[in-house]
This record gives sequence, structure tokens and C-alpha cells, in this order.
Amino acid sequence: MSGNPYQDDRGNKDRTITRPGPERESYPVEPGGEAVKVAEPGAFLIGEEMTGGYGKGPDILHACTVAVERGEIAVIVGPNGAGKSTAMKALFGMLDLRQGHVRLDGEDITALSPQDRVAKGMGFVPQNNNIFTSMTVEENLEMGAFIRRDDITETMEQVYDLFPVLREKRNQAAGELSGGQRQQVAVGRALMTKPKVLMLDEPTAGVSPIVMDELFDRIIEVSRTGIPILMVEQNARQALEIADKGYVMVQGRNAYTGTGKELLADPDVRRSFLGG
Ligand SMILES: Nc1ncnc2c1ncn2[C@@H]1O[C@H](COP(=O)(O)OP(=O)(O)O)[C@@H](O)[C@H]1O
Ligand SMILES: [Mg+2]
Repeated sequence: MSGNPYQDDRGNKDRTITRPGPERESYPVEPGGEAVKVAEPGAFLIGEEMTGGYGKGPDILHACTVAVERGEIAVIVGPNGAGKSTAMKALFGMLDLRQGHVRLDGEDITALSPQDRVAKGMGFVPQNNNIFTSMTVEENLEMGAFIRRDDITETMEQVYDLFPVLREKRNQAAGELSGGQRQQVAVGRALMTKPKVLMLDEPTAGVSPIVMDELFDRIIEVSRTGIPILMVEQNARQALEIADKGYVMVQGRNAYTGTGKELLADPDVRRSFLGG
């Protein structure tokens, strides 16, 4: 556990000292399974102890906490149906929480609509239907900028610099593109709002390993421009390799939380979620 940043100086993480208030603490389970109080002191975006489900249906999330800090990449992994997408939707305001909070840069945004969250700086690429297939690549990017009233050309150039193939195909219908290129359109579209934080739900779904590596490289590049990234990934091992922080979710709960390195080294996580 010596590599656990929360272990060595727990005194500093005691929110009762540094930031009074009952709801600032989260209680994920650290690698090894021991439940400890772990605050997320530097979180830029945090879904804190989120409990909720769809409509009047049963709870899908059970006191689930996920967060991303400034300058970091946080990754959520876990089996199919664990509630990873549900957690992302909850963070984005597409789900009413029965308990818990969502905070962005310290502000409680739990009650805001998705549109208002976009205006606050959240960019979200959902797992499904994340582009308009009958529109051109460029029209998709323009749609992404829908909340902006200023000149979007510079941002569009930045997206084209990040994904040069999209510049080439700017006038093609997005539906004609390959899987990896469509995901680039989806990420590019989210970047058009100039988000302060980017949420990606399975950005590498259905692409080849080579394309996956390329997409991860581009995601790292985006994060280096100062945009914190919270993403769900089914390629758990590769994603944890680039993750500053990782969350393993099981049945709507935090099962393991740690740095990407810690989770990759944890024998239980390896056996249960990384194929040994
Ligand atoms: N729109 C929905 N309405 C009702 N239940 C849903 C909906 N979307 C997902 N679920 C249920 O929520 C649970 C978690 O799903 P999901 O968040 O998509 O998991 P994951 O992304 O980890 O694969 C599943 O049991 C799924 O059937
Ligand atoms: Mg999902």
C-alpha cells in the first residue's frame, strides 16, 4: 500500500479539519478491499455517493463515487451492466439522483439540466448515438458548438489538427466513416463547446487495437491541453495504463479505487477484471 497517496498523509485528507461540512467525504473501497474514508480533495468533477436509477425503477447506482481531478485522466472499468454508463449519465444530469451530489469545480450542480451543465463546461460523449450520421463531419462539429455565440473557426481548426482525417473528410456524411473515425467526430463534437472537463463513455468501442492506441494517444493529448478526462473503458488494462485514477465498478458500487498503477498491480483486480 506504500504507493497509495491517501495512505501516507491521511491527516491532510481529513475534511473535518480542512473543509467543515457533512457531505464532503466519500467512502470508496481501496485496493485490497479494505473500506476506508477517502476524500477526493482535488476533484474538479465529482459524483459523490450517487444513488439512483431510471424513472421509478430500482436503484442502479448505490452510493457510487467517481471523480476526476484537474490535469488528470480518470477511468471507470467494470463488467457489462455494472452501471458505468448510468454513472456517466448521472454526472451529466440525465438521471435523477435519489441520494448524493454532483459537483463541478466546487459548485453543487446536482439539480442542473444537461444543457445547463454543458454551459458550465461539461462535455459528454455518450456510449451510443454520439454523432449525427446523415450530417457531414463539419456539420457535426458545428452542432457541437450549439451553445456558443462566438466565432468557432479556431476551435474547429484545433479539432482538425487533433484529428487530421476529419479535415480530409469534412464534407462527407459522418455515417460513411469508419468506427474509429466516427469516435473522433464524437470527441471532436464535444470539444467544440470548449469544455472544462470531458466525459467519454467507451470511446474505443468496436475499434481495432491499433485504432484504440491512436485514440488513447489523442485522448492523452487532449488531457495535456489541460482538460481533465473521465472515461469509461472496456479495454480495462490499456485504459488503466494511462489512468491517473481508476475506479472498478461492480453492481452499481465502487469495488476498487486507486491509481491506474495500483489497480493494475492488485492481484484481486487482475484476477477478476483484467484476465489474470
Ligand atoms: N435507459 C434505461 N432504463 C432502464 N434501465 C437501464 C437503462 N439503461 C441501463 N439500464 C440498466 O442499468 C444497469 C446498468 O447499465 P449500464 O449503466 O448501461 O451498465 P454498463 O455501462 O456498466 O454496461 C443494467 O441493469 C441496465 O439494464
Ligand atoms: Mg455502458
